Amino acid sequence: MCGIVGYLGSELAAPVILDGLRALEYRGYDSAGLAVLGPNGLTLRRRAGRIDDLASLIDEETLQGTIGIGHTRWATHGSVTDHNAHPHADATDRLVIVHNGMTDNVHRLRDHLVADGHEFRSETDTEVIAHIVGLEYAAEGSLSKAVATTLRQLDGAHSILALAADEPDLLVAGRVGAAGGIVVGHNDTGAFVASDLPAVVQHTSEIRVLQANEVVTLSRETAEFTDLNQQPIKRRSMSVPWDPVAAAKAGHRHFMHKEILEQPRTLADTIRPRVTLDPVELELDGFDLPLKATSIDRVVIVASGTSYFAGMVGAHYLRDVAHLPCSVEVASEFAYAPGPISPQTLVVAISQSGETADVLVAVDRARTVGAPVTALVNTPGSELTRAADEVLHLHAGPEISVAATKTFVSEIGLLYLLACKLGVDRNLLGPEELASNVAAIAHAPIAVARALELEPKLEQLARRYHHFKNFLYMGRGLAHPIALEGALKLKEISYIHAEGFAAGELKHGPIALVEPATPIVAVVLDDTMRAKTLNAVTQIRSRNGRVILIATEGEDLHDDLADDIILLPPTPSTMAPMVSIVPLQLFAYHVAVWLGLDVDQPRNLAKSVTVE
Ligand code: AGP
Repeated sequence: MCGIVGYLGSELAAPVILDGLRALEYRGYDSAGLAVLGPNGLTLRRRAGRIDDLASLIDEETLQGTIGIGHTRWATHGSVTDHNAHPHADATDRLVIVHNGMTDNVHRLRDHLVADGHEFRSETDTEVIAHIVGLEYAAEGSLSKAVATTLRQLDGAHSILALAADEPDLLVAGRVGAAGGIVVGHNDTGAFVASDLPAVVQHTSEIRVLQANEVVTLSRETAEFTDLNQQPIKRRSMSVPWDPVAAAKAGHRHFMHKEILEQPRTLADTIRPRVTLDPVELELDGFDLPLKATSIDRVVIVASGTSYFAGMVGAHYLRDVAHLPCSVEVASEFAYAPGPISPQTLVVAISQSGETADVLVAVDRARTVGAPVTALVNTPGSELTRAADEVLHLHAGPEISVAATKTFVSEIGLLYLLACKLGVDRNLLGPEELASNVAAIAHAPIAVARALELEPKLEQLARRYHHFKNFLYMGRGLAHPIALEGALKLKEISYIHAEGFAAGELKHGPIALVEPATPIVAVVLDDTMRAKTLNAVTQIRSRNGRVILIATEGEDLHDDLADDIILLPPTPSTMAPMVSIVPLQLFAYHVAVWLGLDVDQPRNLAKSVTVE
């Protein structure tokens, strides 16, 4: 949450920072601001609203400097106002910081400062931190020491980036706690620092990652890493395979549309490097757990939001293919009530961003009891890639829209491969079964591509339904998480109330909600649950319910079963989750477009949720 950007080089800083902030706007978009150091000293521009609102404040004065810092905010301490927007200055106004995180001990720190005569111009914890950095700077005479000493005083997880008028040739970033990544990189114009890769990969693909309890001091050519006691740390650079074009809209009106449409390719990118059909092989990046596959007694999947729903699909795979008992836990619940886990429990953490605080805390909890952790992550270099024993990268490329789409499908594909790998390692999956599973997953991208051909129908469906105020989504078995994810997509970007449930539960409560003004989206796959789910649909129809049926073709489908039927391409039932979500993504997308809403940056949300 919140995006931090900094630049120090030979170019004008303000345009570089604005570009970086635009690339990070998905992390928070309540307000934005920047500070540039030029011949006339520090110039601050801050505004509630989007980056474009900030851009309108860029004038000659802000265009003078070649060093600066910027911020796009997801509000925590303090409401959404101009004066709460970052950067914040210290008491001397000669030092500014931007900040990502929440300070648990802010009240105590602020009270001390107020008692010493400090006055504050905002309600943020960031301004308190800026004043402390200022005091430490006055005492230490070094910005990097001041940042390190300040971070030691803060409770919670933070990253900060500081700029001091008296040290005009460097930027200092620091980080404590598990949340709030910082990446740095150089090109021949200078140094870049940001909370996340999209702001940096447009300038360089060689990056270095700041880890917890570290400080990095950037000059135009160098990056010096230290711990919080100023002891030097060697940090190798890593090459990031993300091409800057992948983080651009590429002619699409919205990132979400682009990301939905690129799913056949991104799913193939997840699967194809890991399987071959002739000879049949499955290789999971040298997957090598501290625990032998045969010693695993059960699997616990931890994740949040969309990744949690992908985990629900994965639990079916792990049970069916690898014959492992498997539960799926909401990360924020597991973190504080993990239940009985042991070193024999394989914990699978799933996260697109790899920075979700709830997931990181859950992983930390698992590791304290010695449970091995395998992480499925999309963002290279993210915190989760370091916290886990084993990392399986999604390779889905940057996902910019706040609503996750392509990473959901890639997570499911990768979970299927993990289940097959564990099935083989546990001697449960023979060559023939593996061959059939590998063939099925290798063809999944084609089935996803065929599902995308349904877009014109979904656009029309969205046109007819976008004025409804409530929706129910239901499915059973593998279709249950798809119904939940479909409902989440609709509520996130269209602000329409949508509730998903297991179709078998209809008769235990949700049926009371059935009436013509509440459309019910029923997901019906070609599996053992089909007849039972269709029975539930019939029960809805007998009560004048309005039904949108998302189903694979079959003789059991007839026109009066539903008001609208969207026929899915024929797909093996195990692969159907990756295919059946596509129409639900397209439906949610087009509803939001018909409603004229901000699809990529829905209100109150942020892409990476780095606070608990
Ligand atoms: C998905 O559309 C949401 N934006 C959200 O639920 C998201 O999936 C959740 O915050 C988890 O994020 P992660 O996968 O990056 O951990």
